[in-house]
Amino acid sequence: MSADDGAGRGLSRRRLLGAAGLGALAAGTAGAGAGYAMADTSPPPVVVDPDALPIRFEGVHQAGIVTPSQDRLYFVALDLTTEDRNSLIALLKQWTVAARQMTQGNDVGEMGAVGGSPYSPPEDTGEALGLPPSGLTITIGFGRGMFVDDKGKARFGLDGLLPDRLTDMPSFSGDRLDDALSGGDIAIQACANDPQVAVHAVRNLVRIAFGRASVRYSQMGFGRTSSTSSAQVTARNLFGFKDGTNNIKVEEKKAVDDFVWVHQEDGPAWLVGGSYLVTRKIDMRIETWDRESLTGQQAIMGRTKGSGGPMSGGDEFAAIDFDATNEDGEPAIDLKSHVRLAHPDFNNGAKLLRRGYNFVDGSNGLGQLSAGLFFISYQRDPAQFVQIQRSLAGLNNDLLNEYIVHVGSGLFACPPGVGPTGYWGEKLFA
Ligand code: HEM
Repeated sequence: MSADDGAGRGLSRRRLLGAAGLGALAAGTAGAGAGYAMADTSPPPVVVDPDALPIRFEGVHQAGIVTPSQDRLYFVALDLTTEDRNSLIALLKQWTVAARQMTQGNDVGEMGAVGGSPYSPPEDTGEALGLPPSGLTITIGFGRGMFVDDKGKARFGLDGLLPDRLTDMPSFSGDRLDDALSGGDIAIQACANDPQVAVHAVRNLVRIAFGRASVRYSQMGFGRTSSTSSAQVTARNLFGFKDGTNNIKVEEKKAVDDFVWVHQEDGPAWLVGGSYLVTRKIDMRIETWDRESLTGQQAIMGRTKGSGGPMSGGDEFAAIDFDATNEDGEPAIDLKSHVRLAHPDFNNGAKLLRRGYNFVDGSNGLGQLSAGLFFISYQRDPAQFVQIQRSLAGLNNDLLNEYIVHVGSGLFACPPGVGPTGYWGEKLFA
């Protein structure tokens, strides 16, 4: 919670920031006074750093789903090493308290990184001291493995509470999934505009879980590949294309309600207001892609590389005309292009809220970058993802498949948001 201000008082990261901000404001005012004694004496406009304003942690829904995508991701999947129900409940309670503190720009714990006993390890690891909240959101999801073991036997007394839709993901043509990069009993998605803040969040939650859960895999991501608000400019993926143009946006209230949140009639009751999270680690063969012509790249995507407009014409947000033809009389949007095969018109109306990130995990020893897309989507029912991925998968389908391979997969049920005193997943244990 606190950083020592030298007088033994705790200073939260926000207070440190506030003090710095006031200092800057004072300096600015003094400067104006010195240089322009006779000029306008009104104070200069205060520029508020958006990263200084925390994203609300409490709410009907968890933050980090329809809240605007931040620039950085640190995602972790954990396996529970305890079998004790009370110990899991205690973990979820402690995590919620810590997540609430960190998203508001504070240290973990009562005494934080430097306010505690010099003879004990600090409660907070400290690398976010002095940094603003940076838009941090922390979102939790529960995997099938939290409810049942390999033999289908209930864990943690959660008999009857496993959502029917939290099944094992079906396999898709072309999948090359690595078990070590897939699954997990619990997922935590930390997103922030500063990678240090996202890493700090995951590191501290993993630390709190010591003896109860261990890391199965984790993934850092950058350059959000989806915009989740119309106010955001569409970012680009590592193939150089705008990604997120035809995504569900938070402003589309009906689409968000219809396609993202679990409803009462969907059940189970504890998940109403929550959402299903699908993750796919997708390796992208960027060296091969880079040898593809611009014409070829655009045909594969079905969109232009520059503006992101559809190949049928118009600007980025123009409706795609799948019946349009080019000067040779061929379909302007290739029948096997990514946007056509992923579009709701060819998927029984299914839509997703995409929230993925680019990654580069170093290089592979052959002089190639280990790069790709950590695909994330939120949906009311995993069947929405399955429908679209079935349409895309396989070398005879999406032209993109020559350049990508799915190597990791995860499916998690994300509970609804928490109130001021609640904890993640509390309705499960009520
Ligand atoms: C590395 C893999 C992928 C890349 C590089 C990629 C890239 C793109 C790009 C550039 C667009 C067009 C811009 C937009 O509307 O966002 C797009 C659209 C879309 N993608 Fe992907 N994508 C990938 C994987 C996936 C997967 C696995 C799914 C879901 C199973 C998916 C679902 C969609 C959907 C639903 C759209 C919007 C289609 C529309 O309605 O126009 N993508 N993607």
